[in-house]
Amino acid sequence: MSDAIRALVALSDEADRFLVDSALSGESTLEVVGYSDTQDDWATFLEQPSDVVIVACANYSDRTEQLIDRAAKQRPGRPIVVLTQVSPNGLVRRAFEAGADDVIALPESPETVRFAIQKVLARRQGVTAVRGAPAAPLVCVLGPKGGTGKTLVSSNLAVALAQRDMRVVLVDLDLQFGDIGLGLGLIPERTIYDLAKAGPPYDHDKLDRHLMRHASGVKVLLGPTRPDHASAISVDFLRNVYASLRTMCDIVIVDTPPGFTPEVIATIDVSTSACVVGMLDAYSLKNTKLGLETLELMGYSPDNITLILNRSDSRVGITHDDVSAIIGRNPDLLVPSDREIPRSVNEGVPIVASRERSDAAKAFRDLADRYTKRSADDVSPEAAATRTLLTRRRR
Ligand SMILES: Nc1ncnc2c1ncn2[C@@H]1O[C@H](COP(=O)(O)OP(=O)(O)O)[C@@H](O)[C@H]1O
Ligand SMILES: [Mg+2]
Repeated sequence: MSDAIRALVALSDEADRFLVDSALSGESTLEVVGYSDTQDDWATFLEQPSDVVIVACANYSDRTEQLIDRAAKQRPGRPIVVLTQVSPNGLVRRAFEAGADDVIALPESPETVRFAIQKVLARRQGVTAVRGAPAAPLVCVLGPKGGTGKTLVSSNLAVALAQRDMRVVLVDLDLQFGDIGLGLGLIPERTIYDLAKAGPPYDHDKLDRHLMRHASGVKVLLGPTRPDHASAISVDFLRNVYASLRTMCDIVIVDTPPGFTPEVIATIDVSTSACVVGMLDAYSLKNTKLGLETLELMGYSPDNITLILNRSDSRVGITHDDVSAIIGRNPDLLVPSDREIPRSVNEGVPIVASRERSDAAKAFRDLADRYTKRSADDVSPEAAATRTLLTRRRR
């Protein structure tokens, strides 16, 4: 692999491609890995593995600003350099506030442009080295019994967070009968089995190649397509993969099979919070209580557990007071039964995206509220501090 800086170049606001190419030409230390002059799908374009984003523009309009803002939010650790053909005087501050790290007026020599990009990268790496790469939260969705709604909760939570522009990775840890792919309408081109077969190191590029992309932006590490592939997934492998995934997104959500298998225990061990999904029947409630007790024995703080009662409106002779008495705590979230839910699973579009006004979708958005703030806070202050510093230096 070469050590060249990988750049994504986005042409906005009538940027002159010839000028931009000349500014980037002749530099073996800079490799343009993606070029785009359309506005079609910036999200996909900006998702490509890269070290820096170069936004080139002839003028500087709101469109360019939105592009910078999007690039900054999509991957807060990746620097953005703006090449402009107008005098940068009036726009430097706006560009920095949108998330740019430097602004260069064209025409400019390739050496100067390369030097500016290297400086920006060095500054960013300096910040990360001092403070350590932040690890995103990892949420483990548990339910000691099958069919309680774990997969439903995991996929709707993931999509609800992606709708808030968070970078979400969803892992299907149901290694024998995982059905996240089915519920999200994804073709299993690559799965966790292929990743295990590919072997270490599990760097961002390799992980990215094994994640399937849902229309909402959620990236999914699918479960194996055959139950006998499950044995290829070891606990050590999972630990390594989680550690790497947590440095490439804002939140990792793991859907689990029923029960406390070694893989589930390893996931709970590294998780920052858990969602326990139960239903209104005696078996489920008994197992939910056992599950909560097991988490407690593992040293899990009840504050980091969200108790979800699925199909909470079922009339089965058990009241919500009975639930609290049996389990020993009140559910934090109620998800009603909704016949649109199986329909949304069959269509491959989770209910938060297909029937946004339903009570079930609202419940999943309430669940997403619990994770939105914390994850955003984990990522932003560092980026914000860097930007403030740079803006002050520039003025
Ligand atoms: N609140 C609900 N209303 C209607 N159907 C539901 C609800 N929750 C789950 N289901 C359906 O029940 C089945 C099992 O749900 P699933 O999420 O796959 O459970 P688990 O992952 O715990 O085994 C699915 O077909 C799902 O569509
Ligand atoms: Mg499931």
